[in-house]
Amino acid sequence: MKEVIQKLEKKRKEALQGGGKKRISAQHKKGKLTARERIEILLDPNSFEEWGMFVEHRCTDFGMSKVSIPGDGVVTGYGKINGRLVFVFSQDFTVLGGSLSETHAQKICNILDQAMKVGAPVIGLNDSGGARIQEGVASLAGYAEVFQRNVLASGVIPQISLIMGPCAGGAVYSPAITDFIFMVEDTSYMFVTGPEVVKTVTHEHVTHEELGGAKTHTGISGVADRAFPNDIDTLLHARQFIDFLPANNKEKPPERPTCDPYDRLEASLDSLVPSNLQQPYDIKELILKVVDEMDFFETQPNFAKNIICGFGRIEGCPVGFVANQPMVLAGCLDISASTKAARFVRFCDCFNIPIVTFVDVPGFLPGKGQEHGGIIKHGAKLLYAYAECTVPKVTVITRKAYGGAYDVMASKHLRGDVNLAWPTAEIAVMGPKGAVEIIFRQDKEDLNKIAERTAEYRQRFANPFVASQLGFIDDIIMPNETRKRIAESLRMLREKKIKNPWKKHGNLPL
Ligand code: HXC
Repeated sequence: MKEVIQKLEKKRKEALQGGGKKRISAQHKKGKLTARERIEILLDPNSFEEWGMFVEHRCTDFGMSKVSIPGDGVVTGYGKINGRLVFVFSQDFTVLGGSLSETHAQKICNILDQAMKVGAPVIGLNDSGGARIQEGVASLAGYAEVFQRNVLASGVIPQISLIMGPCAGGAVYSPAITDFIFMVEDTSYMFVTGPEVVKTVTHEHVTHEELGGAKTHTGISGVADRAFPNDIDTLLHARQFIDFLPANNKEKPPERPTCDPYDRLEASLDSLVPSNLQQPYDIKELILKVVDEMDFFETQPNFAKNIICGFGRIEGCPVGFVANQPMVLAGCLDISASTKAARFVRFCDCFNIPIVTFVDVPGFLPGKGQEHGGIIKHGAKLLYAYAECTVPKVTVITRKAYGGAYDVMASKHLRGDVNLAWPTAEIAVMGPKGAVEIIFRQDKEDLNKIAERTAEYRQRFANPFVASQLGFIDDIIMPNETRKRIAESLRMLREKKIKNPWKKHGNLPL
């Protein structure tokens, strides 16, 4: 017995040392924490229960029988974040570069399987050189086993990926399937093929950072949702973020007490929309003044800035916010904005998070680039997402709601539950000027006549009254009471239940 305990202690010590002092200090020199240090910051103190600490790989090729470290390069287990259960895997770059072997993959799969059984989120900390090269196809099989579980878990439990080092080759597809990706600035990168391969195939010279660093993926590709300056910041934000999410698709998102009165009036909102209708304003001001305690967690803040998505709370309950941003591209919907918001809406719908939509949209962005890029299909994604979603939907039109974009942005016709408009709302097929230039084309030389007709069109349609006469708007509200009206609507909708027709799954335009 004593011998066994000694052996156990020796193995535990070995596992806790990971790749050893030298490699740990190399990791620290890069500004990175080790797999275990990261878990300590991510989880509540002393809440981590580790599984698979003694798992070792089975490979004997290329001298691997002599290289074996208990745990096999990934630390797995479960713990708590603010008292709530989460499952975690954290790849240990100090052990064979965090590379994924068959057994390393089995450990990750085990975490995903257990999380699915009990209905709890999974947070993956990725820091890996990819497939364990010595293992060949066995490690590829391991990746596919992880992918399969990521897909089955999608929409059942929240999955969050933190990219905290290299994540290259096929390895990128596990994070890509998960719901949110956070990256660490300067020390993490993601790409399918690295700079060397790019140079050989396309003769382009590109750095790791340019090709797949945090700036690239949060600003250009839209692959990642947020980036933070270092490991600690990233882990602390992940803790904050998980507080908005339910443990699984059968639960409601977690409520928290708030001192912010639900009926707080915001007089400053009455002058948010400028009297010159062509002038932009910052829709984020509205979001911040509506949510509890101005606490708003924005997703993809640097990608498709013409639409804002993120989480806040009303009366302590998490809410997903989608808002056109008049400051960027006049708030037009383009390919990137449509896909960004569609994925966000679908996430909220998966996890019972009500959606509040603020509309100020002049339409879809015109242009050859957009048409050739498939705005038809991509715009349809957002329409599809809003139309299929069954969570409570509250919409507030602040200014423009023109054309197809009016329909798309959680209109009454796409089962918006409560559709409100500010007095400044303009709900029409298009802006007055554009409309008159089309329907009175024969008078285009007569500037007086055109001006007269434009004024007439504006008088008739550039207001919220026609839409409210038709029952498409439930009420016209003062901007200052927006928070109160949203809170009351969400309260009324708390027990909302609607079901879509049975189907295996819909065919989202991809
Ligand atoms: C085995 C690996 C490894 C790997 C790194 N190591 N990657 N061991 N398999 N994939 C080991 C190194 O040998 C080294 O061991 C230690 O990890 C640290 O690596 P370094 O190169 O010293 O670190 P660094 O300079 O920071 O460079 C990191 C790196 C580089 C850029 C990730 O290691 C690298 O290019 N690795 C290979 C990446 C790769 O080609 N992976 C396969 C991709 S294909 P010692 O003992 O010296 O500390 C793929 C397919 C997946 O992943 C498909 C899924 C469908």
